[in-house]
Parts: sequence; C-alpha cells; structure tokens
Amino acid sequence: MVTKLGSSGDGHTREFPAMLEEVRRVRQFAAGVVASHPCADEVLLAASELAANAVEHSTADRHGRIRVRVVHVADAVHIEVEDPGGAGAPQLGRGGQEATRGRGLLLVDNLSRDWGITHDRNRTRVWCEIGCACTGIPVMGEMAA
Ligand SMILES: Nc1ncnc2c1ncn2[C@@H]1O[C@H](COP(=O)(O)OP(=O)(O)OP(=O)(O)O)[C@@H](O)[C@H]1O
Ligand SMILES: [Mg+2]
Ligand SMILES: [Zn+2]
Repeated sequence: MVTKLGSSGDGHTREFPAMLEEVRRVRQFAAGVVASHPCADEVLLAASELAANAVEHSTADRHGRIRVRVVHVADAVHIEVEDPGGAGAPQLGRGGQEATRGRGLLLVDNLSRDWGITHDRNRTRVWCEIGCACTGIPVMGEMAA
C-alpha cells in the first residue's frame, strides 16, 4: 500500500510502510519520476539503498513509515529518504574486503556528486544528488507537476 503525502502534492514525495518488501515500490516510484532519464539506473540504485537502510536501521517497525523524495533539479536528480530515527547514525562502511555488509552508503557515495545526513533521535534524513547534464529536458514527474 502506498500513500501519497497530501501536503507535498508535487508528485515527487511519497510515504511507504517501513518494510523491506516495499523497497521495490520505492524503485517503481523513483522510476516514475525519472523515466527515460539517462541516470535512471543510478537513481533507482541510490533510492533502493537509502530506503533499505531506512527500513533496516531505523526504529520504525512494520507499522512505521519512511518518506522518499525524488526530484529532478537543475542539473541533478535529488533523492532523499527520511525515517523515524534511532540510536545510531548512518556511517560509511569500513569493513574492508571481508565485510559481508556495509556497502550501501559506499555505493551512494560513489554514485553521487554530493550527499549528506541529518540525524537526531526522532528523524534521520539521508540525501544524495546524482549529477546529470540534461538541464531543461523534462522528466516524467516534472511534466506532470
Ligand atoms: N537510516 C539509517 N539509520 C540509522 N543507521 C543507518 C541508516 N543508514 C545506514 N545506517 C548505518 O550505517 C551503516 C552503513 O550503511 P550501509 O548501507 O553502507 O551498510 P548496511 O546497510 O549495513 O549493509 P548493505 O547496505 O551493504 O546491505 C549501517 O550498518 C548502519 O549502522
Ligand atoms: Mg545498507
Ligand atoms: Zn537530468
């Protein structure tokens, strides 16, 4: 089940239940915003990793919500995932070659021209921007907005 945020109303922000099986819906939502964009694959990958992290590492249980924003700004696609926070903050994996986990944010770091974190007990927001060179070319979400 997907609920569109009434207050955003711009087609770029959506809430999802905090469940791993919802991450594919996050990808579908992102694909709807950046359909046929040259960086669509990278956008879907980054959105997936951030959404999976929000589900796995925040305090949200399956009744909780995460909020995903995907929007084409001037020369980048901005992706942002917000969750209800928790004790730990996102941090880049340092496990090295032997680590079985801890590569999601490294991937995001590599895909993005910039990214960042806002974190406190009640909210964690991780955003990234995937740079592109298609200023002025509308993508689906913008045409609908
Ligand atoms: N939204 C979040 N809230 C709290 N902690 C987070 C969040 N996102 C990431 N983290 C912390 O940062 C660490 C690194 O995240 P990263 O995505 O790189 O690895 P992972 O999720 O542990 O494993 P992988 O993504 O490879 O399956 C996580 O293990 C977790 O401790
Ligand atoms: Mg991860
Ligand atoms: Zn673009």
